[in-house]
Order: sequence, then C-alpha cells, then structure tokens
Amino acid sequence: MIGIFDSGVGGMTVARAIEELLPAAPLLYLGDIARSPYGSKSAPTIIDYSIENTRFLVDNGAQVIVIACNSAASVASERLRQEFHLPIIDVIVPAVAEAVRGSRSGRIGVIGTRATIQSGIYEREICREDPTCRVFSQACPLLVPLVEEGWGDRRETKMILRRYLHPLQNQQIDTLVLGCTHYPLLSDLIQPRIGRRVRLIDSSRATASHLRQQLADRPALLARPGHQPADNRYHVTDCTETASQIAQRIFARPITLLPV
Ligand code: DGL
Repeated sequence: MIGIFDSGVGGMTVARAIEELLPAAPLLYLGDIARSPYGSKSAPTIIDYSIENTRFLVDNGAQVIVIACNSAASVASERLRQEFHLPIIDVIVPAVAEAVRGSRSGRIGVIGTRATIQSGIYEREICREDPTCRVFSQACPLLVPLVEEGWGDRRETKMILRRYLHPLQNQQIDTLVLGCTHYPLLSDLIQPRIGRRVRLIDSSRATASHLRQQLADRPALLARPGHQPADNRYHVTDCTETASQIAQRIFARPITLLPV
C-alpha cells in the first residue's frame, strides 16, 4: 500500500494524479487538517508532525511513503529517511526535474509556503540539476489558509495573488513551479496573472510518474488485483465540511473522510 501525507487537502492533488496513473494501486492518505498549515511553523515542529504522520501510515500498512507536502519535504525528508526504512518519495525532486527540463531561458520562478522558500531547497536542487539556471522565489503564506477555507474564487484571493506574483513578473521567468501541493487548486487564477507564456509546473503528475518509476521492481505495490480508486482510504485529523467539499472537487466524486 502507498501511504501519502500532507498538512491538509492539498496533497489530494497528488493522490488524484496517482489514482489516474495507477488506478489499481491501494492508497492510504492522511491530511493533518487539525494542525494545518505547516508552512508557517518552525522546522522542528514540521519534522515532529511529519514523523507522526509517517508512523500512522506505516502502522496502517503503508510500504512506501509519498510526502505530498512541500513544506514537510523541504525540512523533514532527510529525517524521515533516517527514521523509517522504506522508500520515501517527495514532490520536490520530480518538480525540479520537470522545471529544468522544460525551461528554455533557465529563469525559473518558485512559489511556496514560508517554510519551503526559507529552506532554499528549490534553489539548491534546481542549481544542482543545472548550475546555469536562475531561480526567483516568492513565499505566499496566505494561500494555503485561503484554499483550506474554500476561498479559491474570492476577490480577496485574486488581489493577494496579484501582490505575490508581481515581483516574479519583472524577472522574465518562463517557468513557475507551484511549490506547494495546494496551489494547483489556484492554477486557473495564477496562470492569467503570471502570464500565458509562463509554464506552470504542478508536481502532482510528475510525482505520480516518479513513483511508478521508483517502484518498477515492486509491481505488487503498484497494482492489487481487483483494486479500484473507490477503495482508497482518505483519513484526516479533523473532519470538516469544507475539507469534504474540497476533496469532492479534487476527485470529482464523493470522498468519505475518515477520522484517524
Ligand atoms: N500542501 C502543503 C505544501 O505543499 C501545504 C503546506 C502548509 O500546510 O502550509 O507545502
């Protein structure tokens, strides 16, 4: 079984991409809604939460972990790899590979939570892939609470986005990494504001392909006979009405959110 965690509903964009690519793979999801957002918390706190989340998934049968949260991946992935001896995949490596491969000018923008941007992980990883790239980062701490509140369509969200994206518009980027798994839910608002010529990198599909590649030698994890996406289990640390509505929107089907 593939265990996936995020601070809330954002990681469901990754779970949906995995369901689409690997419909027979059993998934177990944990959204830590009760303690979301992570991106404004300190690294030691995010590490503690990530260890607890991973333990829950492992105790419930996960044999591989997908960290579907950039904030957790940027500060906790090394620690998780030390503590848990099973494959751990994160959303950053696949997003970086896709951004570097697709950028013609090498001018790449990254938006993410404060924890992700402050960690400097995207600059490091992008420049490791291609030292000629230039990276322009912008922390957008208000976006995750707006998504979790279901405020994706509000005028206020559009104004805040315009403010966050303005500094990147002057940098002639040709690629923008959505460095937070909540942001694909805002991509219809981000695209016109950053410009149609800028390619948005949504790490969810890249992560699903990376997962399939990484587990190529363990086919039993990628497909269980008779398994269907409807059998996947979606747990949350707080079952809110808004979370159910967002989950339904992401998967385009009713999702029963289960308590932990
Ligand atoms: N989806 C998480 C991420 O990718 C959200 C972080 C948060 O809870 O602030 O960073």
